[in-house]
Amino acid sequence: PTKITSIKTLAESPGLTSIPATHTFAPQHLLDQVISDQEASIPVIDYSLLISGTSDQRSKIIHELGRACQDWGFFMVINHGVPESLLSSIIDGCKGFFDLPEEEKQEFKGNHVLDPIRSGTSFNASVDKIFCWRDFLKVFVHPVFHSPTKPAGLSEISLEYSKRVREVARELLKGISESLGLECNYIDKALNLEQGKQILIANLYPPCPQPELAMGIPPHSDHGLLTLLTQNGIGGLQIQRNEKWVNVGTLPNCFLVNTGDHLEILSNGRYKSVLHRAMVNNKATRISIAMAHGPSLDSVVSPAPELLVSSEGNAAAAFVGMKYKDYLELQQSNKLDGKSCLDRVRISAV
Ligand code: SIN
Ligand code: FE2
Repeated sequence: PTKITSIKTLAESPGLTSIPATHTFAPQHLLDQVISDQEASIPVIDYSLLISGTSDQRSKIIHELGRACQDWGFFMVINHGVPESLLSSIIDGCKGFFDLPEEEKQEFKGNHVLDPIRSGTSFNASVDKIFCWRDFLKVFVHPVFHSPTKPAGLSEISLEYSKRVREVARELLKGISESLGLECNYIDKALNLEQGKQILIANLYPPCPQPELAMGIPPHSDHGLLTLLTQNGIGGLQIQRNEKWVNVGTLPNCFLVNTGDHLEILSNGRYKSVLHRAMVNNKATRISIAMAHGPSLDSVVSPAPELLVSSEGNAAAAFVGMKYKDYLELQQSNKLDGKSCLDRVRISAV
């Protein structure tokens, strides 16, 4: 088998002015859809009002959350209470991991899609035909906490970061439950979030000599319920909206949040997971840390029965139930390709 070097090592090759064919996405793939030059004005949610606002403020925020989930699938969360120093420590800690010598990173490469620690390049080198301009570290941090043992300090920071972000995600999901007209603990209970699967995915996108031919992460939707992203101040994320790719900027000290496939399933299609991709640039290294929050592995997720009844009568379920573990396995062992995974559980209209 050919040894796959990290993108970091490739990007640091002396005199690199072009990217290898193995990493070249066809230009039309990147340009076939008009990129809006306008940065998306993503909704901003003030988390502090959800937690400690008056009941009027809380109702207003829940309404805004619902609109953001329904109209965008993406929103920024400000005043989230996670210390800014912890956000920078986790970014530094993950950078420290990517800076380890290749041989040391190899110890953590993992083999199976459900191994608790995996590092490498691209999502799934065995099925991806073209490699992404990205190195990653993917770690299962809940319900059982894992961490690479190097670099020193990463494990402690990651444990604290995971705990704090999980708390924010669960509170947001309470607000989202209410926005669907469900009891606030509905999602928490129905999907057993006490044992919920939480995955930390650190992404490193080194400067690329031909960014227009490369892809950081190809278009995909996230499989879980809610993903909270933090970045090192360098943008690169694009979301698909009205058939266009729009750039998402960065705000300091905020989480960029997006809804995943399982919220689309639970809400019976009301809150759709949105396609997004990561682009690269030729100037600065971008680091992003995505924290994915899903149901517990043995939860079987199907549309909430409460959402299938309305004054007009019963609505048909748009998805069949599937165990989250099975979905995860399906997603992880397949090529990242749009929403092809969700389509496997979608019930097509007759
Ligand atoms: C992701 O889609 O998981 C992360 C994208 C990014 O790096 O912004
Ligand atoms: Fe994603």
